[in-house]
Amino acid sequence: MYAPITMYTPIHLLAILSLLITSISALPPPSLARATYFRFSTGSGLAIHTSPALTGPWTYVGEVLPSGSSISNPGAQDAWAPDVHEVDGVYYCYYSVSSFGTQESVIGVATSSTMEPGSWTDHGSTGLSSTTGDLYNAIDANPLPTSAGENVLTFGSFWGDIFQTPLNADLLTVTGASPYQIEFNDTGTRPSEGGYVVEREGYSYLFFSSGVCCGYDATRPAAGEEYKIMVCRSSTVDGEYVDAAGRSCLDHGGTLVLGSHDNVYGPGGQGVYEDPEVGTVLYYHYVDTNVGYADGDKQLGINVIDWSLGWPVV
Ligand SMILES: *[C@@H]1O[C@H](CO)[C@@H](O)[C@H](O)[C@H]1NC(C)=O
Repeated sequence: MYAPITMYTPIHLLAILSLLITSISALPPPSLARATYFRFSTGSGLAIHTSPALTGPWTYVGEVLPSGSSISNPGAQDAWAPDVHEVDGVYYCYYSVSSFGTQESVIGVATSSTMEPGSWTDHGSTGLSSTTGDLYNAIDANPLPTSAGENVLTFGSFWGDIFQTPLNADLLTVTGASPYQIEFNDTGTRPSEGGYVVEREGYSYLFFSSGVCCGYDATRPAAGEEYKIMVCRSSTVDGEYVDAAGRSCLDHGGTLVLGSHDNVYGPGGQGVYEDPEVGTVLYYHYVDTNVGYADGDKQLGINVIDWSLGWPVV
């Protein structure tokens, strides 16, 4: 169903304790040879690594929020799930302030014109937050200015799984409309998170991670319940998303893109990046069973996506 990772050597993320989501963006290169790739990681002030190539080597250069987030919520010094997108020459870094296993969560945003450390302005909360008892958990934000001119923010993790809500034109705040659910797996712990939507040839594709993400060195879930990368698609960005078998993704649907295989265990926290050289790539973190199961041992995986069947295959 999928080939093992052979195209790229995974990069050992030495300094990163918890890489829940990474985000990769490239500066518009004057020439490909001079491109600089930026990678953003969960934890502390959101570490920034740069590299002259997708394949590395990656160098730690600083943080998006060196003094923490201005959001007043537990977790402000340990932001999660950065997702960086460029719109009209401005880079927007959406991030989450939360604590593990709670719904006391806020989605914030910072902007920069270069992505370099020291260039980021924190705008604090987008206005999207959650608290105990809400249908969703306001973490794992993913923005999309759609081809139809809408701006949506996809988010959510466990509880009611994945939701979406409109962003204002400034991309810094949500409109306040009620978030709507776009994916729900009402089994077990309702383990979907990390939604990431891309548009392609008339469809919106919702990639998400399903299962237990972390802490595999302490406790490993039953086989098949570890992280894996799923996909659903819809002809409109707000749904209804279905899987390749036609099953609604509001009703346990989801087609496997990448699960554990060979020495790769628990791939997830994915994003999709359009590389000028190699095409569309899926990037994610995973455990290399030959290296170690701790969160600090997680590797960065990158595979080129084959879309020839209309569904992403890696
Ligand atoms: C739904 O959740 C169950 C329980 O964790 C899991 O086994 C299954 O793979 C999930 N399905 C999808 C489509 O994510």
